[in-house]
Parts: sequence; structure tokens; C-alpha cells
Amino acid sequence: MAVLITGGAGYIGSHTCVELLAAGKEIVVVDNYANSSPEACRRVQEITGKQFPVIECDIRDAEKLAAVFRDYPIDSVIHFAGLKAVGESCRVPLKYYENNISGTVTLLEAMKAADVKTIVFSSSATVYGEHNQVPFKEDMPAGGTTNPYGTTKYFIEIILQDLCKAEPDWSVSLLRYFNPIGAHESGRIGEAPNGIPNNLMPYIAQVAVGKREQLSVFGNDYDTPDGTGVRDYIHVVDLAKGHVKALDRAMQVKGCEIYNLGTGRGVSVLELVHAFEKANGIKIPYVIAPRRPGDIAYSYADASKAKEVLGWTAQKDAEDACRDTWRWQKNNPNGYEG
Ligand code: NAD
Ligand code: WQD
Repeated sequence: MAVLITGGAGYIGSHTCVELLAAGKEIVVVDNYANSSPEACRRVQEITGKQFPVIECDIRDAEKLAAVFRDYPIDSVIHFAGLKAVGESCRVPLKYYENNISGTVTLLEAMKAADVKTIVFSSSATVYGEHNQVPFKEDMPAGGTTNPYGTTKYFIEIILQDLCKAEPDWSVSLLRYFNPIGAHESGRIGEAPNGIPNNLMPYIAQVAVGKREQLSVFGNDYDTPDGTGVRDYIHVVDLAKGHVKALDRAMQVKGCEIYNLGTGRGVSVLELVHAFEKANGIKIPYVIAPRRPGDIAYSYADASKAKEVLGWTAQKDAEDACRDTWRWQKNNPNGYEG
């Protein structure tokens, strides 16, 4: 039997493919390459020495999806496919609602038609919104999201919860990722954003490689120890391993479960800059800029549920992630484009 990986050519998807293959699973990838390159899956095959089917397919294409379920012995799905740029989602919300929500509904219908009822979904710490206090815990009220992207994650969580209420034979795992950073230690796969990076770590990496002049630190007047925003940065390889655990659990337990995947530790913007400098011996020039709209001061996980139930905890720290990011960035200054 095989696991269908939607969005498997993307940043987190490609790392998860490596860990699933290492755990002996069969996988099938679908991706429309809206934000990725076919090269990522080729490199996963190179790293692991294992071949697997990779199909160019949009999850909104019901017929093509049905054919995938017909052609391969799929018994579960890990659903990464989605658009994730927060700023763009504010400018073109319908694109995000259509791709992420309609795409997920089409996927769920195809699963149901094929009698596949186990799904692990890429949710986000963004569903904790602005009203909860850190550390964020799975039983806190979700919602109060600050942008359409985050709202798609919140709505999809509700859709999956409603599905489990109506049809108790489904197994759903909602994984709320905190801030994924880092790259595979081979330096062959990593995060390859198009254009100017929105997120902190890829921006730091592009400053380090000389593609950007300096980092803008968005605000140093938050009520945090050094005034800059605090986040829970989770190494993408740890995150990928969390999916293997969540999938194994979902194969055994019916109903909907929610897990934070974070380290439980908060790191400020300046701490991450300094960790990068220390790990790699490179100076990162920065300036203090105004706060970015929609940002909160603190976001970090209570990571105890994943530890207790899944037996998963993050093993790597921010310096490991900085070292791995730099290896990927310097070997692939233009991402998968050579
Ligand atoms: P990514 O953009 O690298 O990967 C997403 C993949 O989905 C891409 O390969 C893209 O081409 C594909 N895709 C998008 N729409 C599709 C469609 N309609 N049909 C088929 N494929 C489609 O992003 P990522 O960082 O790997 O994130 C993976 C998932 O995790 C996303 O759902 C994202 O929202 C979620 N997430 C990411 C973060 C983060 O900071 N990276 C944090 C929390 C949650
Ligand atoms: C981290 C910190 C910024 C860039 C986003 C999404 C969230 C989730 C993860 C998908 C903040 C500061 C950033 C820069 C900076 N994605 N920063 N200069 O905003 O915590 O989360 O990605 O689900 O939904 O919102 O991550 O990496 O953008 O920012 O000072 O150039 O770095 O203000 O404090 P964020 P980020």
C-alpha cells in the first residue's frame, strides 16, 4: 500500500518524502508545481536511492485525482498542497480560498470515492490567531486568524472536523506547524522561495549568499526580551519525522486529532540572526524597520501532546537549522534552478 503525498515537491513535502521512504513506506507524489520544481523529487530519489511515482496533477482536477486513486494502491494521504504566501493572500483572497479550500474538498471527495479515509493535514500555528496566550495548546480556541491564508487553514480544520463527526470511520490528523526552517543535511533539498522571500530564514540565507544587501528586522519594540518577535523555529527534518509518527497513529485511531509540531522554545529574530552568524561564521547586516502588519509578539508551542501521544519531540536546534540552511543555500544559490 502507498501514501499519497499532495504537494510532495514542496519544501516540507520533499523532506517528508525522504523520511517516509527511510521508514520503509511506499509513496506516490502529486504536485502541480505552482510553487516548486520537479527537480525536488528527483533529488529525493537521489538521497534515498528509491524510486516512486511523481504525477503532475492539480488537486482541483477531480478526474485526474480519481485516476491516481485508481492506478495506485493508496491507503492514506498526507496533504501538503496549498498556497502559503500570507501577503499575497491579502491581495488575492479568492485565489487562496479556491486553491486551498476547493482543492481540499475535491481531494476529500476523491478519497471518499476510493474508500481512503486516513489523512494527515498541514495546518499551522497561525490558527491560534491573535487572542491566545503562549504557549499555544491544542485545546485553545482556534480562529481569529489575521489573513486569508491563515483563514484557509482554520476553515479546512473545521471541514475535516465536521467530516469526522458525520463519518466516524475517517482518521484525521491536524498538524499545526510552528515555523519550519532548515534543510536536509545533504544540502540537496531545501526551501526555494520565488522572488523576494517573505519568511525570516530564507531572507537571512539570501543576505548571507549576497543576493540581498541586508535584513530588515520588522520591529524592535515588542514586549519581548530584546523587542523583536519570538517564534518557535522547528527544523524541517524534525517536522518531517513528525509526519511519519502522525501517519502511523492515524492508521490506528479513528476520529480527528490535533497536534502542535514545534520545539516548545521561543527564539527572537535577533537570536536567530546571531545563531546563523555563530553557526556559519558569516555576518548578517540588518536594519530595524517598522513592524509588519499582522505580526504578533510571541508564537511558540506547548509541544507536550505530540511527545506524550506520538512519541515525537524535536531533536535539532536553531543552530543545526542555520548550518543546514547555509549548506543548502550556498550549494544552490538559485534554488532548484541551478
Ligand atoms: P510549498 O509551497 O513549498 O509546498 C506546497 C506544494 O503544494 C508546492 O509544491 C506547490 O506546487 C503545491 N501545490 C499548491 N497548490 C496545489 C494544487 N492546487 N495542486 C497540486 N499541488 C499544489 O510549501 P511548504 O512550506 O512545503 O508547505 C507545505 C504545507 O504546509 C502548505 O499547506 C503550507 O500552507 C503548510 N504550512 C507551511 C508552513 C511554512 O512556514 N512553510 C507553516 C505552516 C503550514
Ligand atoms: C518570523 C519573524 C517577523 C522576515 C509565517 C506565517 C505562518 C506560517 C509560518 C504558514 C517575525 C520577522 C520576518 C523579515 C523579520 N506559515 N521577520 N524580517 O510570520 O511567524 O509565520 O510563516 O502557515 O502562517 O505567517 O514567519 O518567517 O515571516 O517571520 O524581521 O524579513 O521574523 O516579523 O517576527 P511568521 P516569518
